[in-house]
Amino acid sequence: MIVAIDGPAGSGKSTVAVALARRLGFRYLDTGAMYRALTWLAVSHGMSLENGDELAQLARDHPVSFAGEGQVSISGEDVTGAIRESEIDRLVPIVARYPEVREVMRDRQRALGSAGDVVIEGRDIGTVVAPEAEVKVFLVADENERARRRSADRSGVTTETLAADLRLRDERDAVNTRPADDAVVLDTTELSIDEVVERIEALVEEHRS
Ligand code: DC
Repeated sequence: MIVAIDGPAGSGKSTVAVALARRLGFRYLDTGAMYRALTWLAVSHGMSLENGDELAQLARDHPVSFAGEGQVSISGEDVTGAIRESEIDRLVPIVARYPEVREVMRDRQRALGSAGDVVIEGRDIGTVVAPEAEVKVFLVADENERARRRSADRSGVTTETLAADLRLRDERDAVNTRPADDAVVLDTTELSIDEVVERIEALVEEHRS
């Protein structure tokens, strides 16, 4: 079974998807980490981010891999921490908007997601990567709450700066971030992580019965 969890930055996707996968005993695939790792590699090669074909070739030549508890590697480097730096936050939407790059990522995401039960987290999982997913959830949350959640994992940055940053990222990511027609849209503003996880688990159970 595929459970697709999509939504904008700060909607709670990662926390929820990790907890859900653990509860269900499913694998977890973080597709945002793949765009982040590619961005990190392009920056570390000193590449310009203006050429989608070059970036797509880089993605083809250096497939992202996952290991253990959320470790992310590309080109032989463990980039788990590096891809969460604010420079990558800022640059990743530029890389992720190229259709050529998305095509390479989509194929790799389909390959990684194809074996057994999996929770896949991203922006376009229910619409593009796995339209056949049995359970599709699109998480949303109000802007202030999203900025507050981000500030909990980014020390030294004000909530106002994070809110402005999120607005910019929303604009840049908007084109590839939308709920599938058959997705359940869940507003997480007032919900705890456990409550969100339980609601999605109920959808999984519904599908199984
Ligand atoms: O979820 P995240 O913040 O780790 O995502 C990083 C970037 O990748 C963000 O700009 C959105 C983009 N992304 C995407 O376009 N499609 C996906 N399936 C996952 C992430």
